[in-house]
Amino acid sequence: MRTQYDDIGQSYERLKREMPLAKGPERATVEALTGAALTGGTPAGGTPAGGAAGGSVLDLACGTGWYSRIIARAGAASVLGVDISEEMVAAAERAEAREPLGIRYKVHDARTLGVIGRFDLVNAVWLLCYARDRSDLAAMARTIHDNLAPGGVYTGLEMNPRFDWAGPKATKYGLTHRPDADFPGGKELTVTAHVDPPISFQACFWEEEPVVTALREAGFRSVELVPAVLTADQAADPFWDDFRANPPIVGIRAVK
Ligand SMILES: C[S@@+](CC[C@H](N)C(=O)[O-])C[C@H]1O[C@@H](n2cnc3c(N)ncnc32)[C@H](O)[C@@H]1O
Repeated sequence: MRTQYDDIGQSYERLKREMPLAKGPERATVEALTGAALTGGTPAGGTPAGGAAGGSVLDLACGTGWYSRIIARAGAASVLGVDISEEMVAAAERAEAREPLGIRYKVHDARTLGVIGRFDLVNAVWLLCYARDRSDLAAMARTIHDNLAPGGVYTGLEMNPRFDWAGPKATKYGLTHRPDADFPGGKELTVTAHVDPPISFQACFWEEEPVVTALREAGFRSVELVPAVLTADQAADPFWDDFRANPPIVGIRAVK
């Protein structure tokens, strides 16, 4: 089955390297969340996890393996990346051949993956936004939950359900979200990353209730939206004022 990301493939990583939103707060937030999970740490006020020190990681919707590699370099004992797009996984495998980190990859739809292990950490950056309805959300949440060991942690990053559509936009940080249609619980979006040439894709904005409900019903004992963080340099830079006023992204952390 061809997917929209098969036409993006390797060029996707330009977005990670060039787009201010991805280089800055997206990466800082994912590193903070996964780093804390891997060392058994707990973000301030968060629910304690079982601790995944040096643990096994499933990176769902791994794409070209950008975060799979960051997590492997940070000291995970093992990393398995899964993505629905053959082209994205092929790009991830080429990166692994260039810089062997022991990461394994697999092409599969996260909705129908079933249980392939009992991981300490399931990371999924930009997965839930590809759920087109509540039944997709429930299937993704079940896959995340069922592949975790007891006490294991899910870390995610998605569009911020509390994003104010009348407030400052993310365009100056390299991303445009065009709402195409509303549906109960969310919006269909055309998302454009302003790299050269621009990359566009279809995704969904989900409100908080459907996301939290899907994760709770999958069996998570705690579900938290974790505010995105800026790097120390960015925190002092007025360029990021709009981001602080209306963060377009949010971290998610859930404990099994
Ligand atoms: C925006 S990219 C993010 C890739 C990676 N997590 C990152 O942040 O670099 C979204 C990825 O989700 C994948 N994807 C979309 N729907 C999926 C599904 N149902 N199961 C697995 N992967 C999916 C796409 O193929 C694409 O690689």
